[in-house]
Amino acid sequence: MLAGKRILLIISGGIAAYKCLELIRRLRERGTAVRCILTKAGGQFVTPLAVSALSEDKVYGELFSLTDEAEMGHIQLSRDADLLVVAPATADLLARMATGRADDLASTALLATDKPVLVAPAMNVRMWEHAATKANMALLVERGVMTVGPNEGEMACGEYGLGRMAEAAEILTAIEAYFGTDAPLSGRRALVTSGPTVEAIDPVRYLANRSSGRQGHAIALALARLGAETTLVSGPTRLDDPPGVQVVAVESAEEMLAACQAALPVEVAVCAAAVSDWRVKTQSGQKLKKNGGAPPQIELAVNPDILASLSAAGNKRPRLVVGFAAETEKVVAHAKAKLKSKGCDWILANDVSPGTGIFGGADNLIHLIDGSGVEDWPRMTKQEVAERLARRIAGALDSISGSSGA
Ligand code: CTP
Repeated sequence: MLAGKRILLIISGGIAAYKCLELIRRLRERGTAVRCILTKAGGQFVTPLAVSALSEDKVYGELFSLTDEAEMGHIQLSRDADLLVVAPATADLLARMATGRADDLASTALLATDKPVLVAPAMNVRMWEHAATKANMALLVERGVMTVGPNEGEMACGEYGLGRMAEAAEILTAIEAYFGTDAPLSGRRALVTSGPTVEAIDPVRYLANRSSGRQGHAIALALARLGAETTLVSGPTRLDDPPGVQVVAVESAEEMLAACQAALPVEVAVCAAAVSDWRVKTQSGQKLKKNGGAPPQIELAVNPDILASLSAAGNKRPRLVVGFAAETEKVVAHAKAKLKSKGCDWILANDVSPGTGIFGGADNLIHLIDGSGVEDWPRMTKQEVAERLARRIAGALDSISGSSGA
């Protein structure tokens, strides 16, 4: 399954660079074309000659090499591949990826690419655990960068801990997993809502909420990674569009509903948006003025319920409709009531009380409620919740198709 695939392998400067030689050899044995960028620091650990001999191709290193630019621009170099693999990914290169630097060929290729990226971090344990590296990794993962490792163990510097680069065999497994053996949702269509909705009061003011969109965006990415053709309908967020997902940007609940209806038919819909329950009944076309008098009376109207509408969409109803329940008290009891009132198949309940750090934060604590009971998930990152949910959706759709004979 790796035969015919093209990988751009970026080797940066760490002692683990030697493991890349083994990785290249194993990829070549499987018929994968491997083109390599060796950074200046990477060249201190492995020689261009070894990399070139094993990859059976020339090795790229300089951003402004006239012949390379004439034969193959750095942009094309990064786009000709099916996947970019960064191994070892040093703390420095990860920081440059996170900030979008383009000061050498490796970082430029990573910035210019429109292809997925897999990184194998390798560094000293203190560097790995530093808040700066953690923040850089969180940002990269949120943008859709895939990771393998690091592992725990003895390091070249003599310390012990997390930071050893994954072995060549593990990186190979991650590459194989990416290329399609693992696409249980391929051929399926998915719809995800995410973010807040923004309800205009007048041309400059609005009603909104603190939703970051992180959970919904991560779910869209996880579904797409498992092969689903995924549409993400999102209110305004600060997040990047997840790679491989069709994103429809909306503002109000009414726009969100229309965009969701336009995305049907789908087999699964996940409503993770924090939809404003109300909108301003009559928006002012002009900015409301103080005029020295009493504050304006703003009359609210009830917004459409997108989750309930999708659950009641007749012959267009997705086979599986999943909602969230953001609660601050009696989490499971309220969520069970919501499962009924909305008519959906599963509810993922989460406690968003102040102090949990969940609303707008990086982690989530989920109770999955369906017709048969409650499943308590341990606290995990929103990405992990998304991956677990996507796998559960794949399993459920398979069993629904199996039982309906489809
Ligand atoms: N939802 C929706 N459209 C709305 C309101 C909510 O699609 N107008 C969806 C959310 O995306 C979520 C679920 O309904 O999947 C529950 O949202 P939540 O905010 O927890 O509940 P509400 O329906 O708003 O009820 P309440 O505010 O009374 O808790």
